Amino acid sequence: MKKQKEPKRYLISFDSNTTSHVFTDVLVIGSGLAGLSAAIQAAGYGSVLVVTKDKIDENNTAYAQGGIAVVLSAHDTVMKHMKDTLDAGQGLCNTAAVRTIVSEGPKQVKKLIEYGAAFDKEDDHLIFTQEGGHSFPRIIRAQGDSTGREVEHTLIHVAREHQNIKIFEHTFTIDLITRDNICHGAVAWHIKKGTMLIWAKRTILATGGCGQVYRETTNPDVATGDGVAMAYRAGAALQDMEFIQFHPTTLYIAGAVRFLITETVRGEGGILRNKKGVRFMPKYHPQAELAPRDVVSQSILKEMQKTDHTNVYIDVRHIAKDRLYARFPKIKEICASFGIDIAKDLIPVRPSAHYMIGGVKVNRFSRTSIQQLYACGEVACTGMHGANRLGSNSLLEGLVTGHMAGADAGKSIQRTKRELMPYAVHESVGLSKISWLDLHDIGNSLKSLMWRDAGIERDERHLLEAEEMIEMWCSYVMDKEFSNTIGWELQNMLLVSQLIVSFARKRKESRGVHHRTDYPETDNIQWKKHTIKK
Ligand code: FAD
Ligand code: SIN
Repeated sequence: MKKQKEPKRYLISFDSNTTSHVFTDVLVIGSGLAGLSAAIQAAGYGSVLVVTKDKIDENNTAYAQGGIAVVLSAHDTVMKHMKDTLDAGQGLCNTAAVRTIVSEGPKQVKKLIEYGAAFDKEDDHLIFTQEGGHSFPRIIRAQGDSTGREVEHTLIHVAREHQNIKIFEHTFTIDLITRDNICHGAVAWHIKKGTMLIWAKRTILATGGCGQVYRETTNPDVATGDGVAMAYRAGAALQDMEFIQFHPTTLYIAGAVRFLITETVRGEGGILRNKKGVRFMPKYHPQAELAPRDVVSQSILKEMQKTDHTNVYIDVRHIAKDRLYARFPKIKEICASFGIDIAKDLIPVRPSAHYMIGGVKVNRFSRTSIQQLYACGEVACTGMHGANRLGSNSLLEGLVTGHMAGADAGKSIQRTKRELMPYAVHESVGLSKISWLDLHDIGNSLKSLMWRDAGIERDERHLLEAEEMIEMWCSYVMDKEFSNTIGWELQNMLLVSQLIVSFARKRKESRGVHHRTDYPETDNIQWKKHTIKK
């Protein structure tokens, strides 16, 4: 992998003598399902502070639609779910992680139900639905297509009720505080209180993904890869950053947000058609519309190129209107706001960046390579997904790994019984505070570049072009010290993009979601292995 210029250790200068201090046993960064699960679990052992950069429920979790894949149906087994997950991962799944997450999943989902999460039922039995790559229906959902919202709000309720948990919203974590490869907390910035040093015996990163580095993405604005960037600056090992999953079907209307059209629409019989109205998936894969996501995204791209059109369409007009409206109420509502009646009209869709498969490398206890630092959920790379993630497997992973991180962090505090050890820090990053930059413009250019050169299809020429361009932007963005979230997010997005591109250049083969047109074959001799960077 190309030797990159080392990023500055910290994005801002700070001095422990003049900055306010906060103390907690466990610091959890992020309030999606991974962070909240970790917090609830750790709170059984000591004080927990959850910091989150926006409102508590602004995260990928809250936008999740399709559901949670979990072995709860009488016809399902852990072995079957494992096999589907391993098949999709194309030789790169960590089998032990898959086994733990799949077999622990039912217990954690039942706990969610005990907390009050209302999953959709028929005659008092959970309803199971199907998504691509799953051998049969095993996905539970809530309110049709609002699963994430239900899960997130259930966990928020439990966390808010817990006497050991404090929550700071609108608190942006800028960097982890480390010394001698041990994490002691984080430096954060609160919208009203300003900069603070948060000292913690254990820190859990649960900052989610990085979809925002791409122009087309299903992810909300908060998904800027901050966790990966701050962990990398602190020296944590990263794994498999080239594997970015593109969701095949996002609503594509000029001016509309890239709203996800869940895969379960295809699970319920939705058909993909090109501009000419022709169904095309059967010619690409025997499972047609329910082929794994990488295949569907690449096939859509080919049809868009062949028909010289910006998008393809999902057709659900053959499904009974009442059933359709009841099953997908949110999609119906959003489409209707753009004049599309899903029972009568075709829905224009195209792929977009959806999920960060790689991330901060963790072991089976969710521990990172930095002592006292954990990572869980989308920011972590457990190896569960290998080179391609099965739909609805990540809510499960976030729930289980969040629980594991919280439990391990809590227990280890109890074991060591050590007091918090804050120390004097004076970080002067020596960067220029004067900037004549249009940060939005650079951000938009970066997103377009990443979409064009490091998207669904990649090759050496385009990846190299991206690398050089990003290096050039870094030369005048990374030498600045910003005092606002836009600046820090841009610096994080530049670093994460650099990492994606350099990992993607390194893997000279096609596997799962990483499709290189100059190396179209899967090379099991040289490349059936993880890419790791420290
Ligand atoms: P998130 O839920 O994204 O939470 C991350 C949190 O970290 C946020 O609260 C954010 O504000 C905070 N944060 C980030 N940076 C900082 C910082 N610097 N300082 C402080 N806080 C910070 N998966 C499924 O399994 N099933 C589905 O049906 C499904 N549907 C999806 C639909 C959409 C539209 C999207 C975008 C994703 C979907 N996924 C689905 C994927 C799944 O939702 C995510 O992988 C999962 O929710 C990630 O959870 P998380 O807790 O790791 O991260
Ligand atoms: C979807 O509902 O299609 C998204 C599911 C997922 O990403 O897991």
